[in-house]
Amino acid sequence: MLPDTAELGTLGLGVGGCDVAALAERYGTPLYIYDETTLRNSARRVRAAFEPLGARISFAAKACSTPGVLRVFEEEGLDLDAVSLGEMVASARAGFDPARIHLHGNCKSDEEIDYALHAGIRAIVVDNVEELGRIAALTRLHDREARVALRLCLSINAKTHPHLQTGGGHSKFGILRGSDEERAALAALTDEPRVQLVGLHTHIGSQIADAHLYREAATELLSAAGELRERGHVVEEVSVGGGWAVPYTADGPGLEPEEVATEIGAAFARAGAIRPAVEPGRMLVARAGLAIYRVGAVKTRGSTRLIAVDGGMGDNPRPALYDARYTAMLAERPLGDAAGPATVVGRYCESGDVLVENALLPPVACGDLICVPVSGAYQLTMASGYNLVPPPAAVMVCRGESKLLTRRGAIDDLLNRECT
Ligand code: LLP
Repeated sequence: MLPDTAELGTLGLGVGGCDVAALAERYGTPLYIYDETTLRNSARRVRAAFEPLGARISFAAKACSTPGVLRVFEEEGLDLDAVSLGEMVASARAGFDPARIHLHGNCKSDEEIDYALHAGIRAIVVDNVEELGRIAALTRLHDREARVALRLCLSINAKTHPHLQTGGGHSKFGILRGSDEERAALAALTDEPRVQLVGLHTHIGSQIADAHLYREAATELLSAAGELRERGHVVEEVSVGGGWAVPYTADGPGLEPEEVATEIGAAFARAGAIRPAVEPGRMLVARAGLAIYRVGAVKTRGSTRLIAVDGGMGDNPRPALYDARYTAMLAERPLGDAAGPATVVGRYCESGDVLVENALLPPVACGDLICVPVSGAYQLTMASGYNLVPPPAAVMVCRGESKLLTRRGAIDDLLNRECT
């Protein structure tokens, strides 16, 4: 569960050739540390698994939109999935050619669609019939052409936390497969010469541990592509989204890229010229990231130690939102034997602000550093300014060097938008 370069020794935890305690001293806490080697290794592993299929691989930027991390994936030859103007701008800053970006979103603004059309992004992934109408109107207004993919909502139960499911008849995402919505979308496409259909897309959910579901999803989309071909549309690409589970604890579910590739490859065996595409987010960044906190208080409640740290749900809302489980270790004594049950709680004014339950930690004192592994995905991107606590800094480490990716937030960052 640790980054590829992690070193556990009696002198403490190291990553990317840097000492974690020294990084905490230099940059302050809470601190997010990204290991560049793990980011690159993960990207290469996914490419090795999917290149035999000729698949396009995009990084889902919502998992980590820090330009310094996006730049690594740009260099590693991945494409990118953006879901907002902000993510498109961050990707441009990271050096992504717009032709390698596609735009998602279930409620895109005209501003976002305009940006996509003018920047020349690869394709807009259309979520609903109204959006198709707006894209068509904007292409006429600006005398542009649009390349689009249709996001279909399939009735596949992703067997994950309900908040992480995006399939089924009640999902807010996409056009329901086999419904009047789908027929209306196809009719609208036929009427709009400036809007060219190039792909079909689905995303069935996140933290999915059953690789076979990707074969089901791909098979269903390929059958939709066959129906479209009969109506004269040429589908170049079929994307089954992302969602591969990553283990956050020793017994947590996980999915290897090779397993997903095997299942998708089986579905595409007779797909002819249609190219598969995938867009993992979490798998590419989660394990590369460590969250480091400073202990501010230790209390005993019943038989449990409550260890309060200087971050929490403001930088990691995942335990509160999805019952997400994590582990914890002491950065300076990672090999210490556990000294009875411990719960790591955050600094925010919410009883639900619990970072790690059942943490196996040695004796802990104020001032110690707690490390929470597998922190690279969806934590910083969902960080908030709750309690007016500014978000943490992030650094990248590689071969004994560290560089600041994101400076620590300042109170002024939070108050600058206030007008009175
Ligand atoms: N493609 C689309 C269209 C998506 O909506 C997502 C994630 C992905 C790809 C990447 O999924 P991944 O491989 O990262 O699971 N905040 C939640 C996760 C929400 C995922 C939203 N969509 C969490 O912290 O677990």
